[in-house]
Amino acid sequence: MESMYFENGTLFVLDQTKLPNEIEYFTPKSKEDYYYAIKSLQVRGAPAIGIFAGYAMALLNEDKQELKKYLDSARPTAVNLSYATERVLKAYNEGKNPLDEARAIHLEDIEMCRKISEYGLSLLKDGDGILTHCNAGELATSKYGTGLGPLLLGKERGYTFHVYSDETRPLLQGARLTSFELEKAGVDVTLICDNMASLVMKQGKINAVLVGTDRIAANGDIANKIGTSGVAILAKHYGIPFYVLGPYSTIDYKCKTGDDIVIEERQADEIKNMWYEKPMALPETKCYNPAFDVTDHELITAIITDRGILRPPYNVSLESIKDND
Ligand code: MRU
Repeated sequence: MESMYFENGTLFVLDQTKLPNEIEYFTPKSKEDYYYAIKSLQVRGAPAIGIFAGYAMALLNEDKQELKKYLDSARPTAVNLSYATERVLKAYNEGKNPLDEARAIHLEDIEMCRKISEYGLSLLKDGDGILTHCNAGELATSKYGTGLGPLLLGKERGYTFHVYSDETRPLLQGARLTSFELEKAGVDVTLICDNMASLVMKQGKINAVLVGTDRIAANGDIANKIGTSGVAILAKHYGIPFYVLGPYSTIDYKCKTGDDIVIEERQADEIKNMWYEKPMALPETKCYNPAFDVTDHELITAIITDRGILRPPYNVSLESIKDND
């Protein structure tokens, strides 16, 4: 299912806040619509928000420099957002058609996800048990996805995988999106609460962990949905490979380590109220709601990009695929 598509000059975007109960596409009109869609996670996942913001830059008749600043501020952790707005801004400033650049970002993403999926699939065996965290599938990208890419491609090739999908508190992307997406694709998926990951690993049900990423630092530390680092620690404890999958555009060479990555903090309502009929804590109860965490490079078995499978030491392997510019 496509996270968005562009047809006859109009962008259609799947409202992911309505999944899995309603499948509804909408067309953003104003810069506020675009900002709200990113902020509220109607469109989410690092590559998808980049593609979406690229279209915003191209389609809106606004001061492009100001628009870029405005859109980038909607979600600070995923580097793909500012990468895409920068590319469209540059094309515009050079007198090129910004829509061509936005289209190119979209189409390149399909190609990159396909390559990532191929590389990722080469690391898996038919019958493997896989743990996922958050959603890094088609909904988070354009097609195939990153973290889920090998599973969707494997399904096309006749592989059978047994996927355990962490529900991913507090916004439940694993329950609402990953389980939904894999069910629709006919991949065997079992939903678990985040705090069950250790047990399924101990029970020998997991052969590999696959996750996406929002930003990769130059030393191989990565940011991904909150809880990812805990899963990586568990995987290390149980001797299970922990694979991070993301396109080249997710590497931020300006971030030397994960300490340089800005972590988005979101409102308490998402923990206490959002999914419940009644509040789950007192109004005065304080909540801390960081949306992402940083996983130390030492916990990562391989980083799978569209430019190949990178192994430690990551400062060397990441440098080896860097563009000279
Ligand atoms: O808050 P979200 O839903 O945007 O978080 C998404 C994730 O953490 C994904 O794993 C990440 O963006 C990689 S998506 C290919």
